[in-house]
Amino acid sequence: LAKIEIKLADIPEGKSVTFKWRGKPLFIRHRTPEEISTEQGVAVNTLRDPQHDNERAQKPEWLVVLGVCTHLGCVPIANAGDFGGYYCPCHGSHYDASGRIRKGPAPLNLEIPTHEFQEGGILVVG
Ligand code: FES
Repeated sequence: LAKIEIKLADIPEGKSVTFKWRGKPLFIRHRTPEEISTEQGVAVNTLRDPQHDNERAQKPEWLVVLGVCTHLGCVPIANAGDFGGYYCPCHGSHYDASGRIRKGPAPLNLEIPTHEFQEGGILVVG
């Protein structure tokens, strides 16, 4: 009931698509090889909320995050901001393509909901 199934083949590489899940926006991003190598190469000790990309993306091609800014809850904009991920226009928080906070007032990385990749290219969130 509180789960959502997403057919990953519908999301082209380079795109972040927004779904609605438990009343919140859910961002599913099909990352490019360039995005993956950039995010995997970020030095974790330079981050405000230190997490390696491997801890955030079970499969490197897919980022699954809540579209809720960790500052005051606005919805960030995809493929915007200084770090190529998400930008929250409310007070200027910049997130990278791993959903990690890189600049601006937000204290934490975008939240990753429980999710699982199933056979046949299906992602289940919840
Ligand atoms: Fe996103 Fe304030 S709510 S920067």
